[in-house]
Amino acid sequence: MTTHGRTAVVTGAGRGIGAAIARRLASDGFHVVAVDLDGELAEQTAQAVAGTSAQLDVTDKDAAVAFASTLFRVDALVNNAGIFPPAPIADVDPAQFRKVMDVNVLGPLIMTQALLPLLTEAAGAAIVNIASIAAKLVTPGTAAYSPSKSAVVSLTKLCAVELANRGIRVNAIAPGGVRTEGTATVSTDVEREARFNALVPAGRRAAPDDIADAVPFFLSSDSRYVTGQVLYVDGGLSEATINYLRAAQSAH
Ligand SMILES: NC(=O)c1ccc[n+]([C@@H]2O[C@H](COP(=O)([O-])OP(=O)(O)OC[C@H]3O[C@@H](n4cnc5c(N)ncnc54)[C@H](O)[C@@H]3O)[C@@H](O)[C@H]2O)c1
Repeated sequence: MTTHGRTAVVTGAGRGIGAAIARRLASDGFHVVAVDLDGELAEQTAQAVAGTSAQLDVTDKDAAVAFASTLFRVDALVNNAGIFPPAPIADVDPAQFRKVMDVNVLGPLIMTQALLPLLTEAAGAAIVNIASIAAKLVTPGTAAYSPSKSAVVSLTKLCAVELANRGIRVNAIAPGGVRTEGTATVSTDVEREARFNALVPAGRRAAPDDIADAVPFFLSSDSRYVTGQVLYVDGGLSEATINYLRAAQSAH
């Protein structure tokens, strides 16, 4: 299936992984609609990829429906927008918890619902949800983040089953640690970064492009019989429990 003339909507496309996905899909021939809460960042990405942009909060259903009404064709939706504020479980505020669930879980649902008529019309339509290694391994200190990404995986499988008869496939990509603007504070601490890299079988934190390059397969006809699946793009981190154990032993 050629990507020429096909349109992909990418949320959270203003920076980080979303911007890398926008670049990759544009270089594959998609017309990219870069969506972000920050309209200026979305426009920067759109200009870089000769696409279009929209300022949109993915948790705002009315705004999402209004956004969808501006589009004529959507073949692909990449639900990438997400937040990961620090919040220990002992004192996380219910409102903070809800906010993370709103953006990370309801956001993909709202965008999927809003674009459903257009995705249903398109031949070979596909959705990719960006989950996280945190769906499988909890990340202490981030309260709702792991529950939210587990819910993204579950939502992905549910959507895959319910939307299959509309010809829409739905899969998830679960990144490990990725160097982005959102993780800049952890990845610029040199000593902490070296300890982290030592735990990753691939030996390094991912760059946004490492994640973006996994997306086209799920949007192409090469994956025409693949739906409801989660691909961990994590340099082996989620299978490396032994590395944590060794690190813990050597600390004593
Ligand atoms: N960086 C990592 O290590 C990592 C690891 C696993 C999964 N992820 C997931 O990848 C995705 C992108 O992460 P990132 O590191 O690039 O993040 P980032 O913080 O660098 O960028 C996220 C973008 O999403 C936008 N955004 C936030 N809330 C929004 C909303 N309500 N509506 C629309 N846009 C919104 C932000 O404005 C920002 O441009 C997230 O879903 C994140 O959970 C990241």
